[in-house]
Amino acid sequence: MELSGKVAVDPGAGSGIGRASASLLASKGVKVVVADIDEDGGRETVATIVGQGGDAHFVFVDVTDPGSVTSLYAAAVEHYGGLDISHNNAGIVAGNPPWPETPMERLMQLAMVNLGGVMPCTRAAVDHLRNRGGGAIVNTASIAAQFPMADDAAYSATKAGVAMFTQACAALKDRDGIRVNAVLPGLVDTPIINKTGDGTKPADWLVAALEVVPPLKPEEVAEAVLELIVDDNAYSQLKPVMAGL
Ligand SMILES: NC(=O)c1ccc[n+]([C@@H]2O[C@H](COP(=O)([O-])OP(=O)(O)OC[C@H]3O[C@@H](n4cnc5c(N)ncnc54)[C@H](O)[C@@H]3O)[C@@H](O)[C@H]2O)c1
Repeated sequence: MELSGKVAVDPGAGSGIGRASASLLASKGVKVVVADIDEDGGRETVATIVGQGGDAHFVFVDVTDPGSVTSLYAAAVEHYGGLDISHNNAGIVAGNPPWPETPMERLMQLAMVNLGGVMPCTRAAVDHLRNRGGGAIVNTASIAAQFPMADDAAYSATKAGVAMFTQACAALKDRDGIRVNAVLPGLVDTPIINKTGDGTKPADWLVAALEVVPPLKPEEVAEAVLELIVDDNAYSQLKPVMAGL
């Protein structure tokens, strides 16, 4: 895919990996709709992109609300005239207390954001991508889809679901020219790491892992997202993004 002049929607771009991906896409000439439940974070991403000479626009979204997701994609098409790319990236962790003490409400929220959010974002994107003759969707899964996280079992399960959903969308390539891929990052240095604990520091179970495995920079994951978007032969790929790979 030639990027210049294309239009992307990036739900979860108010921080971390989504922000880095939106910025990288914008630096390649993509017009980016930055979407997030965190308005301040989303507007900060837009300000950074615009400050660097890129074209970006903020739209509020709660990916657990189908109406909000439908409105997001409609707003993107209205603002920029079409859609070519969706980076379905919004995600949360369970936080303290770790599994199996995770409160019931938090488990349901985790499922609705991490897996529940990816499906309606894909559903909404497909209609608009078809109108352009195809496009690219990249889901942010996690290496936790393949290596079980005992202390956040529900997180692992949602990411495994995202990975399987990505593979199950393979037929969209031949039918609609829509390539659906996923990145599977290892640990990445973003605010989500502290959200595994009390919000100010990582959970105890993660501290030991961080000593052994230095976290990636969000920009390294953004490069992998970009590679999957531009590679016209990539579809249903689960791309690990790990230090040293
Ligand atoms: N950081 C890591 O170690 C790591 C590793 C593998 C995968 N991931 C995944 O990467 C993605 C991005 O995470 P990050 O590390 O950049 O964390 P982050 O917390 O910096 O960013 C997550 C973003 O998702 C947004 N979000 C949360 N709930 C939402 C909702 N209901 N609707 C819309 N937006 C919502 C947040 O406001 C935030 O801006 C997530 O899916 C996460 O699971 C992260």
